[in-house]
Amino acid sequence: MAAGQEEDPSGEAVGVLKDLDGRKAGGFYWYLTVLACVGGFLFGYDTSVVGSVLNFIPYHLSDLATGYLVAGASLGAAAGAICAGPLTDRFGRKSLLIIDALIFAIGALLSAFTVNAAMLIISRTLVGLAVGADSAIATAYIAEFAPAKRRGSLSIVQQWMITVGILVSYLIALLIFAVAPGEVRTADWRLVFGLGAVPAIIAMLLRARMPESPRWLLHRGRYAETRAAFGKLGIEVTEDQVRDTADELERQAAEQQDKRRWTPGVIRALVVVCVFFIFQQITGINVPFYYGPKLLAGLFQSGGAVDSAMSGLETAAILGAVNVIATFFAFKYIDRVGRRKLALGGFAGMVVFMVIAAAGVAFLTGGAKIIIVMVGFGLFIASFAIGVGGTGWLIQGEVFPTSVRGQAAAGAATVNWLSNFAIVVLFPTMNTAFGLSWVMLILAFLALLAVVFVARYLPETKNLSVEQVVHVFERQRA
Ligand code: BGC
Repeated sequence: MAAGQEEDPSGEAVGVLKDLDGRKAGGFYWYLTVLACVGGFLFGYDTSVVGSVLNFIPYHLSDLATGYLVAGASLGAAAGAICAGPLTDRFGRKSLLIIDALIFAIGALLSAFTVNAAMLIISRTLVGLAVGADSAIATAYIAEFAPAKRRGSLSIVQQWMITVGILVSYLIALLIFAVAPGEVRTADWRLVFGLGAVPAIIAMLLRARMPESPRWLLHRGRYAETRAAFGKLGIEVTEDQVRDTADELERQAAEQQDKRRWTPGVIRALVVVCVFFIFQQITGINVPFYYGPKLLAGLFQSGGAVDSAMSGLETAAILGAVNVIATFFAFKYIDRVGRRKLALGGFAGMVVFMVIAAAGVAFLTGGAKIIIVMVGFGLFIASFAIGVGGTGWLIQGEVFPTSVRGQAAAGAATVNWLSNFAIVVLFPTMNTAFGLSWVMLILAFLALLAVVFVARYLPETKNLSVEQVVHVFERQRA
């Protein structure tokens, strides 16, 4: 079947899962979602905060150590994501989410009280591990309790929190540098790092009281706890109903000819999510975010180090705000318009606006250059935010069966972080070798390839139950 064709898929949600799918997402659902996505906030905060304070860390940092501080978070995150997979399938979503928050808090506090470069590097690695582990689980947890018609919007909250985290990291740095410009090399950078501990500690305490994923509990045969988790979500079911649902799911699985957990459909889904993630990263979204303050600070080199850092930060904060605002449209339209159309539009927009920004870099000077580059980057980021960023994290959570969701989602997150690492590390070399405008054109070309990929391989999964989504991929594979 061609991607995007909508048939009435089999694998309909059964028994108590139907109640979960058909439910209205009330306040508690949104609360749980935000709690699951606090790691997304820290993901945004911690990955972009380094760029703001890097120039003020008073230790002697080799090039390698500097590179590691900027890009190493992504490597740590790749490691964290891959470890999280088997652990979350074995010990549950909730336990891992609590442990991640604890590691976040420890990493942030150690960064703040660090005594030398080695300790700073270890602390940032800890933060990276937690970022990766949380990114592996958050949308999987959400997909396992979200009503089918709201799963898209609920999962986009993860992207939203990432974007808010990025923006807040710039704003906090700006505020602290403005209040205490004399302390940039002493207290300021420590405070900027350490503040990440506040949401982490709050999340850890609140996550301890969140319900475990009902689908995961059901899958593990823990029926009394499944019933309790349903109860917390406002759905009264009996233990017998839960057991009947489990029996029915088992009967459906037995009917299937393919008894493997990693069926061809599941593998296809994994490949599609991984390739989507590779495109999400290699099309260059993090170039403006990680290098933005530095690249843009170059345009305002009039004052001293703090002044030019602040001008760079202000410009990056404007782009960060565009990112937050544009993500609202993803949130609004993902369940109405669907994943495919938004992703197609998003990548197509990235092609157009990156070309415009590249033209600005190549052919303009002075004020006109700043305006065109900012508008181009701004709309590039908006296109990413509407169709690409959140869509990636959403499909990562929704397309796998519960039995392997943790591992598959974690594998995909690992691919995301490795691609993130690759582009962040390669960008400076490519920039020197080809010049900024050519690098931007290469990124635009990659976004064009992404359009073709989405058109060909990403099926529409809006409004389906997660059980149905799995069947869409099985049928595509058939
Ligand atoms: C990506 C990040 C990126 C962020 C920007 C996320 O979806 O995974 O790499 O920094 O979006 O908003």
